[in-house]
Amino acid sequence: MDFDRYDHVRPIRWQGDRLDLLDQRLLPFTVEFVPCVDERAVASAIRDLVVRGAPAIGIAAAYGVVLAARAVDAASGAEAAEKIRAAIDELNASRPTAVNLMWAIARMRRVLAAAGGDWRADIEREARAIEAEDLAANRRMGVLGAELLAPASGVLTHCNTGSLATAGFGTALGVIRAGVALGRIERVFASETRPWLQGARLTVWELREDGIPATLIADGAGAHLMKSGAVQWLIVGADRICANGDVANKIGTYAHAIAAHHHGVKVMVVAPSSTVDMATATGAGIEIELRDPRELLYSGDRRVVAEGVAAWNPVFDVTPAGLVDGLVTERGVVEAPDAGKMAAVFGAVSSA
Ligand code: MRU
Repeated sequence: MDFDRYDHVRPIRWQGDRLDLLDQRLLPFTVEFVPCVDERAVASAIRDLVVRGAPAIGIAAAYGVVLAARAVDAASGAEAAEKIRAAIDELNASRPTAVNLMWAIARMRRVLAAAGGDWRADIEREARAIEAEDLAANRRMGVLGAELLAPASGVLTHCNTGSLATAGFGTALGVIRAGVALGRIERVFASETRPWLQGARLTVWELREDGIPATLIADGAGAHLMKSGAVQWLIVGADRICANGDVANKIGTYAHAIAAHHHGVKVMVVAPSSTVDMATATGAGIEIELRDPRELLYSGDRRVVAEGVAAWNPVFDVTPAGLVDGLVTERGVVEAPDAGKMAAVFGAVSSA
């Protein structure tokens, strides 16, 4: 498969001494990179959604660790780790739900702690490896997921899971890219993803950049679309997948999955193994990020809700494993995931 044909956008550019992040707050009308020269700038970029999407957050944080180490004088990795412990902690806490962030930071900490005199080169190599492995995983998942689709299928996706959310190619959007390239997908629908509009501002823009026609729907139109028979699969990404197969993803995923189940539309979750959190038993153990109610009360800078009205803004929800037909990771496809199948593929975590 010609992976590059349908994949042109890159949100993360490591420049050796700084990290340039495509400012996703400004898309689709302004394409501008934010230069980050230290880990504080990277942590702010993650918090403020300059960079977003579980794998992209993890990759950015890994480079954030490299930047944190630039200012440090240390003879060994262990000494450096001690000196930048607080800086790494700040990066680790920049968003709570996507486990790829904590996974990438833990990986960087491990390499740093074990490194000798060459610790600077070692951690930069590790960050680059995290980025490269993500792209490779996405391409593999793209083909695995596309092979599950019957020719000429219609699909619905939610949020943005594309090149913008990863090192490139995307997770659920990678399956859609591969499905289009392999002739398995005829119709692509994307839901707008209120309140931050990742679907409306990012997904349909990214697909347009790559020449893949897509139709935008309101989030609330998902059930109606599924009833019409136009889509056979709901294809989404994930921010954290628990040991029993429960899936945390962008708010609205759960509602789409319930509607899909009702209408016989299959549900595919596509995520690299870095999104799997075998230490969290079920979705009940996941911290769901609450963001500023302003995202609901305003459209851009303009208030659209009467003064004095309260708003609640959880930005993720949990889809129970029982609603998932297929979990696609770079390790293969887990059909109807449950605790036993998850442990077989990802290894059990001892409670000790
Ligand atoms: O708040 P966001 O935009 O970071 O949320 C992103 C999502 O929920 C994605 O679906 C998920 O991270 C998978 S991205 C490959």
